Amino acid sequence: MAGAISMASPDRRPPWVAEAGEAERVLILDFGAQYTQLIARRVREAGVYCEIHPFNRLDDAAIGGWGAKAIILSGGPASVTESGTPRAPDRVFRLGVPVLGICYGEQTMVQQLGGEVAASDHREFGRAFVDVVGDCALFDGVWAKGGREQVWMSHGDRVIGLPAGFRTVATSDGAPFAAIADEARGFYGVQFHPEVMHTPDGARLIANFTLRIAGCAGRWTMAAFRRQAVARIRAQVGDGRVICGLSGGVDSSVAAVLLHEAIGDRLTCVFVDTGLMRAGESDEVVELFRGHFNIPLVHVEAEGLFLGRLQGVTDPERKRKIIGASFIDLFDAEAAKLGRVDFLAQGTLYPDVIESVSFTGGPSVTIKSHHNVGGLPERMRLKLVEPLRELFKDEVRALGRELGLSEAFVGRHPFPGPGLAIRVPGEVTAEKLALLRLADRIFIEEIRDAGLYDAIWQAFAVLLPVKTVGVMGDMRSYDHALALRAVTSTDGMTADYYPFDHGFLGRVATRIINEVRGINRVTYDITSKPPGTIEWE
Ligand code: XMP
Repeated sequence: MAGAISMASPDRRPPWVAEAGEAERVLILDFGAQYTQLIARRVREAGVYCEIHPFNRLDDAAIGGWGAKAIILSGGPASVTESGTPRAPDRVFRLGVPVLGICYGEQTMVQQLGGEVAASDHREFGRAFVDVVGDCALFDGVWAKGGREQVWMSHGDRVIGLPAGFRTVATSDGAPFAAIADEARGFYGVQFHPEVMHTPDGARLIANFTLRIAGCAGRWTMAAFRRQAVARIRAQVGDGRVICGLSGGVDSSVAAVLLHEAIGDRLTCVFVDTGLMRAGESDEVVELFRGHFNIPLVHVEAEGLFLGRLQGVTDPERKRKIIGASFIDLFDAEAAKLGRVDFLAQGTLYPDVIESVSFTGGPSVTIKSHHNVGGLPERMRLKLVEPLRELFKDEVRALGRELGLSEAFVGRHPFPGPGLAIRVPGEVTAEKLALLRLADRIFIEEIRDAGLYDAIWQAFAVLLPVKTVGVMGDMRSYDHALALRAVTSTDGMTADYYPFDHGFLGRVATRIINEVRGINRVTYDITSKPPGTIEWE
């Protein structure tokens, strides 16, 4: 493994950057692949800081000044055999740092350096095997010459001629140049996708690239990030005052605790109790922040206002808009009472920040308008502090642990901003919310008791606007039906229903019907996303 951090970084970044291991940064150029975020995940798992940028956003000067210890070129949907398709900036190959091209990234590197790529009849999708035909630093300690190794492929085009200086180190039936290397220049290319789980050794190949080949020390840890983030917040905020909206979710809570560490009582948190929270949730938030962390917290009880404005409203989009606007009104009013406020803190995460590469152009369709505090900064003339904007969700969870939040808290399932209102299709009333809270609590309790909570991305109950006939103790009942929803997912973008066994589902249904008066039928939603969405509204 090559040496320690290069302290002689060409730019004038502040000292905490080097201390946190962020001086060793890997630049990922995105050509629009579905899996680019996974490349970043794998690089960070190896303790190396990295960022994703669209292939065409950094000019030569920006690439030169970025301070990359290595560059990774992602896959992408285009074909280098067609003109007008994306290319890596030439500067990438003249920086003197190692470059790894993955799939499309390999193909464009080969073509730009003088090799040849062709469209092929033999398309390869899914599981494949490569034969390792040469020793290579990328494979050190992972694959040996002569081995046959499982990988995951997704390509039509393939390399048919190598640029000078390269040799082939692995081949497959569909890709004779499945892995190539020019070790003198530190250029590597793989046709397969090392970033996906279906390439079982892929993470170790990526770690070889960042640690052994690029010589990063792998010091980017959450403890280091915490110190770095605290210093950065202090530098940004100076002696200003910050306000932070708490939702009870993991992101805003972690952001608040981190900010409090950085600026103490110059942070005020505002928790708006919308009356749309789950059982016990409001008390937990107040106890955690006021009681445990001793963070100044304004608790706004606004159930009456929210339920009043939602009265008679059945359209899901109208519900979302009303809730978003009410939240902003209340937050604004509370902020005004505090006097001078300079910054608004938000728990924005990296996936929200990454600019996606679109080849089709055009705006995407609004499936649901997500509720956040958008609109507030302009109205209140506030600057934003977003201390988590470089982190992925599970890194935020790791940071939360580092900051002393309990495992039970950081591991909580995501909960939508509009709360239970979007889990009561039709008109939202206090009575319906009360039924839903009881049923939801039973479902989650049973999931926890069965040891399944962490295996599930999100689980909840939905109170249906349908009444059904039942028979309970020789009496006719005519009560609400309830749906249970539990999904697995990695990012909420796609999801599959959780395959509970029937015994479990039966137990939950029996408990809900016995314990919640007003519900007499329970169903389990087995729709995946797409075509369904996770929430019902
Ligand atoms: P859908 O229902 O669109 O949800 O499949 C994907 C993920 O987003 C959450 N969700 C929201 N989160 N404000 C939020 O903060 C919202 O308006 C909102 N709507 C949905 C949902 O719970 C799931 O985790």
